[in-house]
Amino acid sequence: MIAVGGGKGGIGKSLLTANLGVCFARSGKRVVLVDADLGGANLHTCLGIDLPAASLSDFVQRRVANLEDVVVDSGIDGLGLISGAQDFLGSANIKYTQKLRTLRQIRRLQADVILLDLGSGTSFNVLDFFLSSHLGIVIIVPEPTSLENSYRFLRSAFYRLLHHRESARPFLEIIEQAMLPNNDKAIRTPHDIIRLVGRMDPERGDRYRAWLSSFRPLLVVNQVRSPEDAELGPAVLLACRKYLGIELDLLGHIDYGDNVWQAVRTRTVLMMQDVESPVTQRIWHVARQIEKRMESLEVAGRERLKL
Ligand SMILES: Nc1ncnc2c1ncn2[C@@H]1O[C@H](COP(=O)(O)OP(=O)(O)OP(=O)(O)O)[C@@H](O)[C@H]1O
Ligand SMILES: [Mg+2]
Repeated sequence: MIAVGGGKGGIGKSLLTANLGVCFARSGKRVVLVDADLGGANLHTCLGIDLPAASLSDFVQRRVANLEDVVVDSGIDGLGLISGAQDFLGSANIKYTQKLRTLRQIRRLQADVILLDLGSGTSFNVLDFFLSSHLGIVIIVPEPTSLENSYRFLRSAFYRLLHHRESARPFLEIIEQAMLPNNDKAIRTPHDIIRLVGRMDPERGDRYRAWLSSFRPLLVVNQVRSPEDAELGPAVLLACRKYLGIELDLLGHIDYGDNVWQAVRTRTVLMMQDVESPVTQRIWHVARQIEKRMESLEVAGRERLKL
C-alpha cells in the first residue's frame, strides 16, 4: 500500500499516482488505484476515462458491502481503479468508523500494489491514509508555497502518528498542543516535542525518537524546469533532517513537460502515449526506486499504523 501526498494542491499527486500505476502494471503486477481524495476526486481523468458508475461512495454509504465490488477496469491491463467519492460536496469528512472500514478493506484488496491518491491539506483523513500505507510519498514542486506545505504536512503526519500511538492523557495533551500552530508550549518541530517529553519521561522520549527515525517518507520533486530546481531534492532532505529531525528518502525528480498537461487534456495516459519522453523516463526511474523499497519491505516488513 503506497500513498501519494504532499500537502499542496495541483502538484501532480493524481498524475503521478496514475502513471506509477501504469508502470507497475506494465511490470506485470496487479495494481489497484484508489482515489482517496474525498474532496476533489479526479483520478479517473488522469487515466483518461469517464467517471465510472461505481465509486468509493457506494462503499462508504454502504450501497455495496465489499470494496472489491467497486474496482473498475481502467482500460489498461492489470490496472484497476476505485474511483473517488463524488457526493461529499467538497467536504473531506468521512466519519472515523467509515474511515476504519474503508482502510480495512483497502488492505484486503486483491492486488500486488495498491496506490492511494490523497487529497491536499493536512486533515486527519489525509494523514491517516498516509500513515496507514507501507510507503508514503511526498511530492513537492519548486515553489516556496509547496515547500511550506510539505513541511507542515510532514510535521502534522508525525504528530498524528504520535497521537495514535500514545495513550497517556498528559502526553496526548502535549501532542494536541503541538498540532496547533503558535501553541503556547513553543513546540514548533518534532525535535521540540521529543525534548519536552524526554524531560518528563526519558524512556518515552526515546520511544518517540525511535518512531521519528523510522518514519522515513519518500520524496519526489515534480515540475523541475532547471538544473537548480533539480537541486531542491537534496536541499530539502538536509533541511528536514536538520530542522524537523525527519529523514526523507529521495526517489528522484520529474521534469516539467508540456506533454504532461497535454496528455490530461487529450484524455490519454502519458506512460502509454509518450514512452520515450524525458518525463516518462523519470517516472520509470521513480517507479523502479519504489520497487526496490517494496522488495526490502517484503524482506524486513515495516511497522505502520494499523487503524
Ligand atoms: N511534470 C509536470 N509537467 C507539466 N505539468 C504537470 C506536471 N505534473 C503535473 N502537471 C500538471 O498539473 C496539473 C495538476 O496535477 P494533479 O491533478 O496531478 O495535481 P494534484 O496534486 O493531484 O492536485 P489536487 O490536490 O488538486 O488533487 C495536471 O493536470 C498537469 O497538467
Ligand atoms: Mg489530485
